[in-house]
Amino acid sequence: MPHSTCTDQRQASGQVGSSILKRLLESPKDFKVTVVTRTDSTATFPSSSKITVKQGSYTDSRFLQDAFKNQDVVIFALNFMAQDAQTAMIDEAAKAGVKWIVPNEYAGDGMNKAMVEGVPVFVPKKQAREHIDELSKTHEGLAWIGVATNPFFDLFLIKQSKVFGIDPESHTATIYPDAGAFNTSTMDRIGLAVTRLLSLPISDHSNSRASLQHYANNFLYVSSFCVTQKQILQAFQKAKGESGADWKVSEDRTIKQFLQECQAGLKQGNMQAAWGLTICHYIGEGLGGNYEEKAEQDRKVLGLQEEDFEEAAKRAISQLTPSTEEAFPDVKA
Ligand SMILES: NC(=O)c1ccc[n+]([C@@H]2O[C@H](COP(=O)([O-])OP(=O)(O)OC[C@H]3O[C@@H](n4cnc5c(N)ncnc54)[C@H](OP(=O)(O)O)[C@@H]3O)[C@@H](O)[C@H]2O)c1
Repeated sequence: MPHSTCTDQRQASGQVGSSILKRLLESPKDFKVTVVTRTDSTATFPSSSKITVKQGSYTDSRFLQDAFKNQDVVIFALNFMAQDAQTAMIDEAAKAGVKWIVPNEYAGDGMNKAMVEGVPVFVPKKQAREHIDELSKTHEGLAWIGVATNPFFDLFLIKQSKVFGIDPESHTATIYPDAGAFNTSTMDRIGLAVTRLLSLPISDHSNSRASLQHYANNFLYVSSFCVTQKQILQAFQKAKGESGADWKVSEDRTIKQFLQECQAGLKQGNMQAAWGLTICHYIGEGLGGNYEEKAEQDRKVLGLQEEDFEEAAKRAISQLTPSTEEAFPDVKA
């Protein structure tokens, strides 16, 4: 789903969108979901009386007004390449009277200024939030809720483990001595956390933290677990019945070096370096990838526990096929 609006009233295809849609439909809260999908999309959606699918153009104001009208929340879950379309759609949502916008985040901690400034792909996300802040001056009560997920566990960290330094194909790994533990979220956990978030009351005088008001213009910190590169390497070894001796592990390169190379590459206009910076900030110790303290508080509010790392890793690795190991920009790790 590119984006979905819910009319608790809340709208969904795609990695993030399908996870949120699934969990919204399963929720006892009886969310009514309107899915906005592109005219030329081939996406299909579950058949349910709780879903209305609206197919049209991201730039068609009349279409968007019709889709966003009477919606409490608009959730964006847009392909990265479609992110530019978000600004005008946010304008349409505000114009339609929507009060809550969950913008296209699903990345790192947007409240960590140093991290956002260090990671070029986070910049448009920050701009979208600033745009909503600006609109809220003329659209009373309009607020955003950012959803921090860090790397998707199953569909990025495991599927593209090579860019995180671990290459099961060649049995080689680069373990950075200055990498730390970092948070990561399974796709299912993202959908569940967003659904539980939208199930909170707007305000709660007895526990203000457990309310949407707490998350207004703020982040929800989703995390299945907080892991290290070594744990990911061991999970691959365990899943394939291998020992350390089957792998060539190098610990010579540092995140600091990787970061400096990416910063130099970026100055030369190398987009792969921008992705490299994302990886450095996720896994480098002290660079923003560990938001466990905040994630723990949010799990409490949402009634969630950490997931079982071993189980999740086994499941994600077993689902890997050569065709799922698709090309990610070739980030040197
Ligand atoms: N943290 C991480 O590890 C991580 C990894 C990947 C992405 N992300 C973030 O999460 C956001 C959502 O990512 P996602 O992986 O859920 O997105 P996705 O599955 O690639 O795409 C989501 C939806 O966007 C719509 N879309 C619009 N223009 C498109 C285009 N040019 N090509 C393909 N689809 C297009 C499609 O919906 P319809 O077909 O229904 O129109 C598609 O299903 C991204 O913008 C990115 O910021 C984070």
